[in-house]
Amino acid sequence: MATSPETTKLERYNSYLRRVNNTKLLAASSKLLFRATLLIALVLVFVFTINYPPIGGDGNFLNAPMHTPNFLSAAFYGSGASWEKQVRHSSTPRRPNGFSVLVTGAAGFVGTHCSLALKKRGDGVLGLDNFNSYYDPSLKRARQKLLSRHQIFLVEADLNDTPMLNKLFDIVPFTHVLHLAAQAGVRYAMQNPQSYVASNIAGFVNLLEVAKAANPQPAIVWASSSSVYGLNKENPFSERDRTDQPASLYAATKKAGEEIAHTYNHIYGLSLTGLRFFTVYGPWGRPDMAYFFFTKDILQGKEISIYKTPEGKEVARDFTYIDDVVKGCLGALDTAQKSTGSGGQKHGPAQLRVYNLGNTSPVPVGRLVSILEGLLGVKANKRVITMPRNGDVPYTHANVTLAHKDFGYKPTTDLAAGLRKFVKWYVGYYGVQPRVKKENDVELPAPESSHA
Ligand SMILES: NC(=O)c1ccc[n+]([C@@H]2O[C@H](COP(=O)([O-])OP(=O)(O)OC[C@H]3O[C@@H](n4cnc5c(N)ncnc54)[C@H](O)[C@@H]3O)[C@@H](O)[C@H]2O)c1
Ligand SMILES: *[C@@H]1O[C@H](CO)[C@@H](O)[C@H](O)[C@H]1NC(C)=O
Repeated sequence: MATSPETTKLERYNSYLRRVNNTKLLAASSKLLFRATLLIALVLVFVFTINYPPIGGDGNFLNAPMHTPNFLSAAFYGSGASWEKQVRHSSTPRRPNGFSVLVTGAAGFVGTHCSLALKKRGDGVLGLDNFNSYYDPSLKRARQKLLSRHQIFLVEADLNDTPMLNKLFDIVPFTHVLHLAAQAGVRYAMQNPQSYVASNIAGFVNLLEVAKAANPQPAIVWASSSSVYGLNKENPFSERDRTDQPASLYAATKKAGEEIAHTYNHIYGLSLTGLRFFTVYGPWGRPDMAYFFFTKDILQGKEISIYKTPEGKEVARDFTYIDDVVKGCLGALDTAQKSTGSGGQKHGPAQLRVYNLGNTSPVPVGRLVSILEGLLGVKANKRVITMPRNGDVPYTHANVTLAHKDFGYKPTTDLAAGLRKFVKWYVGYYGVQPRVKKENDVELPAPESSHA
């Protein structure tokens, strides 16, 4: 098509105008884009500094979905006069020469029971817990409510939150730390190994770093585990037996904790007592443990798996009732000597101890199930399978001679009596029917829905 020079000129001019307008528009929008980007970047920088201050460059938390430490809340709410007043009030002892105890993992099973027992006898107790979702956090919240009814304040923070720990030690001259916060559970370590490293190793070291620098240095009692005995063949398990063959990463991190405790005792004069708990159970217990989920599954008519060893033997555990463990924890606190250092300097040798806290009477898991069947009035739908190699050990049995000698530890609750109390709590807490059989009740009919 032929075009006159005029039209061409005009078209060129028009296209020139269009280009100019486009450039203007582009300039304007790019300015806007630049400002928006800057704003977003600033907001992101702000949020990240607040959320991840003390462990910059350490990717552990990012790999550990169970440990999304809420440093935002710690940094924001962990200040102010009324917050500080609660911290002081909760940790002030109400008896002469009473302790002032920081209980880590206080929203946990053992932590809740120990906090209540300490408070009851007049010690000051301050709780710390990150409320992670390894198991149903609503159970941790319910325990927190129970604690707050007894004037125990719980700080929601992670063990790795150094500024928060420093702040607590600035406000309160803790005489003792009962360190129970940890990533527990043997099997979950294969799914989320980093969460064990973050809490049981990094978190423990962080706590020890703050404690060693504190004035006064507190005495520390902390939870190790019977799992450190791993593939040990001695029976019963005694403290001097070998613990260098852990069968799970959980066990390895607890063993590491015992060695780290040695180091901090040696270098800084921290008084440190490790307690090797043996399968603790009872009211307010942990939903990830067999006695707990067996109860749930039996009531729902679901099949439960009972492990046997590759040699066809029954798996057995030295089940220890919570009240006995609490007495052991308090006994360890009462006999703990003062740390000898101050301001990060050692001034003399300090106490370093390790104790078994067990029941001294292993029970086959099949027997556990028949006790539960009796208490619930429901027949279990059982399947016996060979134990997979998932970190569990076939057998545990505690020798508690040492704890008995040093602080009179003597377990008094057998599995049937302890499970009765657990089941009573369970049906009450979850509002389950039928009611638990009373001591003298004759047969209760099984509920209609219990069999598939
Ligand atoms: N229950 C047992 O049979 C048993 C046996 C051997 C050892 N233990 C040890 O005893 C201690 C208490 O066990 P439990 O049964 O009460 O377990 P639990 O899981 O009920 O309690 C641990 C608590 O610590 C908190 N926590 C975990 N990581 C944290 C972190 N990084 N910062 C702050 N809080 C954190 C959790 O939210 C939880 O509430 C643990 O150290 C556990 O390893 C328990
Ligand atoms: C139990 O441990 C004590 C040391 O605390 C030891 O003397 C004793 O021999 C142990 N008993 C058994 C049966 O292993």
